[in-house]
Amino acid sequence: MQTTRPGALRCGVLAAAGTLAALLAACGQHESSSIERGRRVYVANCTVCHNTDPALPGSIGPPVAGSERALVEARVLRAEYPPGYTPKRSTRAMVALPQLAGSIDDLAAYLASVPPR
Ligand code: HEC
Repeated sequence: MQTTRPGALRCGVLAAAGTLAALLAACGQHESSSIERGRRVYVANCTVCHNTDPALPGSIGPPVAGSERALVEARVLRAEYPPGYTPKRSTRAMVALPQLAGSIDDLAAYLASVPPR
């Protein structure tokens, strides 16, 4: 019966550590891109009504580029507006999407990153 040689074992541990370091590096990069995560959430949840380019009007939603976090949160979680905000439209067609509570920061980071035109 053959037992594992210590040398092979050490190499395996080193390889595993190397993979972990690469994974951690990749994770770190991913974590830093709140804007990219926000873009994906926007494309998946908002572009039925808003334009894929947030600076332009969508099929029924107005341009939302440059929206502040308070506005994004009030709209997405409650379909409301922050106190004192003058809405771009007087309609009430948008539905709240409270299941996106964990993505408000990312959505706001993305929308703030697109300059309004
Ligand atoms: C069902 C269609 C629909 C969906 C889905 C939708 N919206 Fe809207 N949104 C609208 C409409 C229409 C308005 C204009 C006000 C109204 O009618 O409710 C609006 C208004 C807004 C406003 C306020 C614009 C302003 O300055 O007055 C923001 C911000 C916004 N939407 C963000 C989002 C985000 C972010 C998502 C995705 C998480 C989203 N909306 C999903 C239809 C939609």
